[in-house]
Amino acid sequence: MRGANENNLRHVSLDIPKRRLTVFAGVSGSGKSSLVFDTVAAESRRLINDTYSTFVQGFMPTLARPDVDALEGLTTAIVVSQEQLGGGVRRRGSG
Ligand SMILES: Nc1ncnc2c1ncn2[C@@H]1O[C@H](COP(=O)(O)OP(=O)(O)O)[C@@H](O)[C@H]1O
Ligand SMILES: [Mg+2]
Repeated sequence: MRGANENNLRHVSLDIPKRRLTVFAGVSGSGKSSLVFDTVAAESRRLINDTYSTFVQGFMPTLARPDVDALEGLTTAIVVSQEQLGGGVRRRGSG
């Protein structure tokens, strides 16, 4: 990733290794979600939507390109809910 500028990100550049578990940690509001969801996952989803036919795309929301200079080697991003699975005490992920 080179030059990410979503939300509060200011020209953030980093390499994220594949086949490794990478954890983004930081205080609330530091930009973890902006980096992971609004930049990486958003561009991945946009690229996937691009592969559908024009007809199918007509039924899908038009996704804007995230504010980032370059995302190289991006593969399919699968976003899973932060909510806990199963019963018991229900707690919502804080984001
Ligand atoms: N959709 C948005 N529009 C405007 N500002 C946003 C949006 N999403 C997040 N922000 C702002 O960007 C900053 C980083 O937020 P976020 O990426 O959610 O941080 P984290 O996930 O680390 O808590 C915060 O100041 C937040 O208010
Ligand atoms: Mg967050």
